[in-house]
Amino acid sequence: MKIGIDRISFYTSNYFVDLQTLADARSVDVNKYYTGIGQEKMGIPPPDEDIVTMGASAAFRLQQDGELDDVELLLFATESGIDQSKAAGVYVHGLLEMNNRCRTVELKQACYSGTAALQLAIGFVARNPGKKALVIAGDVARYELGSPGEATQGCGAVAMLVSADPRLVEINPECGYYTEDVMDFWRPNYRSEALVDGKYSTMVYIHTLLESWKQYAGLTGLSLTDFDHFCYHIPFTKMAEKAHEKLCRKLKVELGKDQLHSLLEESLRYSRITGNCYSASMYVALASLLDTAAEDLTGKRIGFYSYGSGCVGEFFSGTVQPGYREVLYGNDHKKLLENRTELTYQQYEDIFNYGVPADGGEHVFPQYKTGPFRFSGISQHKREYETVV
Ligand code: CAA
Repeated sequence: MKIGIDRISFYTSNYFVDLQTLADARSVDVNKYYTGIGQEKMGIPPPDEDIVTMGASAAFRLQQDGELDDVELLLFATESGIDQSKAAGVYVHGLLEMNNRCRTVELKQACYSGTAALQLAIGFVARNPGKKALVIAGDVARYELGSPGEATQGCGAVAMLVSADPRLVEINPECGYYTEDVMDFWRPNYRSEALVDGKYSTMVYIHTLLESWKQYAGLTGLSLTDFDHFCYHIPFTKMAEKAHEKLCRKLKVELGKDQLHSLLEESLRYSRITGNCYSASMYVALASLLDTAAEDLTGKRIGFYSYGSGCVGEFFSGTVQPGYREVLYGNDHKKLLENRTELTYQQYEDIFNYGVPADGGEHVFPQYKTGPFRFSGISQHKREYETVV
């Protein structure tokens, strides 16, 4: 039985900062951002947007299309949890008025948890072939103002329907995965910004890729030349390119600039203008590839490398299904990305410093442009959400 991703829907904030604005504020040559790390813009969530509103907004299109009726498992993967106890997915379940017969849980392992959720969902469908699972991965990537990670910030969520006989991408069963206890990036419970040993994190990312690939290749006998495209975890687009170059060098596979471009470029387009979406990033890459590739991807094999600091990595593959174009939300994604509002530096800093009040009082948040749901306020420590449409 084929199991995999049946639909994919992406949402990000309606606000962004151009990295030229950040470069001016930090007195940095903008080419360090545009070329050096390969990022142009970073998505910034306004005070009334969080992982719940972004996740629910990503899944809203699926609900509108009646795709959530047979869902009995909702997995929400995130690094940016908003509650130590209640799963973000339970709020989403409520906002989308999903069936009560549903298992809902939140998963965490930095940027890797979206892949853990996908693989668990596949296991659920294998056991319950008529049922579906909804996987949501969503994050707000936040680093300290003025820190090296600042330019890689971003936000977004991806909602994926996982089913038997998927219409988009069959996920193949073999996987190479690797865990090692390291401190390259982490966020203690008392902090809202991540801590990161930046250069070290890029080295661990690549080491984990080599280890995951080694296992994967051992299991499948496949070589890099058996793949038509790759989707990497994208903390910044240059990281994905460098990782692929390194993997090719290690395996002595020839790789010219044009080849690198054709293997990766379409998967990098959305991330370059949204920034890091942590657990969602690799799936933003998949949406970007499926939506924007000019060639027909039917039957093409995609290699996926998922990485979560701390660290866990996984290499696996998927095969694009016939007719996939008919079930994409590419036009919606394009409209969303084209209609965002640019922030000035001062607006960015004000939003960054807004902070969710922690005094247990009654607070109503200013209304910004959001998707169909917004985080309207907080009352006696309870988050309040409202439907905008
Ligand atoms: N024109 C062109 N290129 C320029 C330039 C200019 N004027 N100035 C600098 N550059 C280049 C540099 O040469 C460098 O390229 P190389 O790596 O090829 O040498 C690149 O721009 C970046 O410059 P620096 O190395 O000086 O940048 P930095 O040290 O200030 O920051 C970083 C880089 C450490 C990765 C930082 O962005 C960071 O901390 N990011 C957050 C952590 C991260 O994303 N890690 C990735 C792996 S971990 C992971 O994947 C999990 C996750 O999502 C966080």
